[in-house]
Amino acid sequence: MPPWLSQLIYLQQSESESYLSKLIQLATVSHDNKPRVRTVVFRGWSDSFDMKIYTDKRSAKIIELKDNNNVEACWFLPNSSCQFRFRGTTTIDCDKETWELLDEKSKSMWSWPSPGNKFEPNNNLNFLPNKDTNPIDNYVLLKINIDYVDQLILDKPVHFRRRWIKKREWIEERINP
Ligand SMILES: Cc1cc2nc3c(=O)[nH]c(=O)nc-3n(C[C@H](O)[C@H](O)[C@H](O)COP(=O)(O)O)c2cc1C
Repeated sequence: MPPWLSQLIYLQQSESESYLSKLIQLATVSHDNKPRVRTVVFRGWSDSFDMKIYTDKRSAKIIELKDNNNVEACWFLPNSSCQFRFRGTTTIDCDKETWELLDEKSKSMWSWPSPGNKFEPNNNLNFLPNKDTNPIDNYVLLKINIDYVDQLILDKPVHFRRRWIKKREWIEERINP
């Protein structure tokens, strides 16, 4: 296990069990070369320590990632006053095993009309499960292969900051906060 992950798992013990402590901000680069950011739920680690996120393959982020799969994910752990920033590259996987972990209500969101398209006010029926859409067709597992981790802990009198870089064998480097 990479050292930054043992550190994250250790600090997570002080965080709440609520899904709120699993929210991360995921940034991509859009086709106009400008940043895009959104909140997503952290869904765990793969066997090779990729970060897992569930998303809709019709969403803007997936279209962006097909052209540029560089991302940064920011995760704040409030009880430890700690921020982790993860840089990496993504792969998109149509994984059926993780789909089965979702409850029916969550699954139904993947049958909603395309995210980001114009909302049709008279067509609320489109948001109800219907036999024309198979929600799993829109589901993807996004995996972030992490290559750079920056950790900042707010502390007194001086904050603490370090980084781990995959190319440098994940050797910990202290840097100025
Ligand atoms: C609390 C919260 C959790 C969210 N979790 C996810 C998630 O796990 N996956 C996801 O694709 N979108 C999630 N969203 C919606 C995204 O923030 C975003 O609106 C959506 O994915 C469309 O983004 P895009 O147009 O940049 O692709 C969540 C939003 C909120 C407010």
